[in-house]
Amino acid sequence: MTDSSGDRLTRKVIERYSPKDDYYFPVHDEKLHCPISDTQWVPWTFEHTWFYPCYLNCHGNDMVILFKLKKGLGLHSHYHSGFTTAHTIQGKWIYKEKPENVFIPGSFDLEYPGTMHTVEILSEEPVLMFARIQGGFLFVDDMENGNIEMYQDAFYFYSEAKEYYEKSNREMLSHLHKISIASEKSLT
Ligand SMILES: [Fe+2]
Repeated sequence: MTDSSGDRLTRKVIERYSPKDDYYFPVHDEKLHCPISDTQWVPWTFEHTWFYPCYLNCHGNDMVILFKLKKGLGLHSHYHSGFTTAHTIQGKWIYKEKPENVFIPGSFDLEYPGTMHTVEILSEEPVLMFARIQGGFLFVDDMENGNIEMYQDAFYFYSEAKEYYEKSNREMLSHLHKISIASEKSLT
């Protein structure tokens, strides 16, 4: 197939998505497939939780995040305003509300907009969960009342990561810049 100028369309696609524009995750640890060092994990809001930003679209409120969650993590029942998919890489966990579904490495989870649940970690080793999150998290006081206590979206994760990396690992600011779509003001 050719376009109006006579060029093959396939060549245009290849040019647009050339390797120099790709984001590449180097794998240094063959066991965990997780090359992320301690100062690259951003402490998350709750006890025993961290996140690593892979992609943050602050305009579209769309994000890809790697989470590290340890046993005893703080209460964080949450509601999803958008669609989320989560792939478990390491560890074992459940939703407290549906303990018969046990998530282990390789488990794939679909979380639909409007769902609310509470994660509980079962394994001694941390859970590594790779998630695509559209929309925001709304954290609630408990599942019974469902009163919203906190809202977190792509810009929240961007702001938290920026603040942490500015203090703890300035080299990561270029990573954050590369994987973020945010207003120019917020990226300076
Ligand atoms: Fe969730």
